[in-house]
Amino acid sequence: MDFKNKTAVIVGGGGGLGLATALEFARAGASLVIMDGDQKKLEAAGAVLAGQKIPPPALSLRLDVSSAAAVAEAFRLVDQAALAVNFLINAAGLREVKMVYDLSPEEFQRVVNVNLCGVYYCCREAALRMRSLGGGAMVTVASVAGLTGLPHRPAYCASKHGLVGLSRNLALDLGKDGIRVNVLAPGTIRTPMTEAYYSSRAFLDGLDELVPLGSQLGGSQDVARAAVFLCSEAAEFITGACLPVDGGWSAGKSYAIGQSTPYTSAGSGSVGAVD
Ligand SMILES: NC(=O)c1ccc[n+]([C@@H]2O[C@H](COP(=O)([O-])OP(=O)(O)OC[C@H]3O[C@@H](n4cnc5c(N)ncnc54)[C@H](O)[C@@H]3O)[C@@H](O)[C@H]2O)c1
Repeated sequence: MDFKNKTAVIVGGGGGLGLATALEFARAGASLVIMDGDQKKLEAAGAVLAGQKIPPPALSLRLDVSSAAAVAEAFRLVDQAALAVNFLINAAGLREVKMVYDLSPEEFQRVVNVNLCGVYYCCREAALRMRSLGGGAMVTVASVAGLTGLPHRPAYCASKHGLVGLSRNLALDLGKDGIRVNVLAPGTIRTPMTEAYYSSRAFLDGLDELVPLGSQLGGSQDVARAAVFLCSEAAEFITGACLPVDGGWSAGKSYAIGQSTPYTSAGSGSVGAVD
């Protein structure tokens, strides 16, 4: 991949999947604009880049993506620094793990405001600039929770399903302006957001049941490389796609691996629509 003379705006690039993606874009030659809500993470990200002999970000901006005004101001600063917005990666997000009985309306609203509205605000600002440039590419990090229900995550699932729909709409509307829009749907990847899971043997055993390639194989670099691919010329005819990066989890989500299913027990041949 050769992203020389291109700028990648990585929202949520202060840590986790966003930082891993920033590293991959920088290795491919892109200049970076890193945006994140946490100043300490932005500083730590700068240190990680320096540790890998990667030039510092052209801009490092703290913002709360759930504020449309803050997002507009951040992109104004990108313009002021005379940086093009060639690529946008949306990797800022949060989640609440609670059932509907316990999740307050305010908590629901906060997750949707950050995970879904924040992505809309960033896509809008980026699209306006990419249209002027004659094209660009956006990749949003959704989740397997955007493809199927996950327990105890009403707001997270709603926001992630919303991201898949939003990105499909944008792919339709922006294609004529040369702007490609795709979504990644990672399974469980070890980052600060999921770190607590990895001390639970029972959780990992359960995940191994669901993930054909195993729970431990995938890392943040797998999500990062998929984002680089989707922004590259190798993906020039790909838009509106939702790419799972989940070790096969979503391929068989309806049934546990090895379990007998209505499809296997009904024998072969055409039995009409079953779903
Ligand atoms: N790690 C996983 O297993 C996994 C799986 C599927 C999807 N995802 C999604 O990937 C994205 C990145 O997750 P991660 O695992 O890297 O988590 P993370 O917590 O390590 O990183 C999320 C980043 O978003 C930033 N952020 C949070 N709220 C913000 C706000 N209001 N404004 C600006 N920045 C904000 C945080 O400061 C942080 O740097 C999230 O959208 C998450 O839902 C993660």
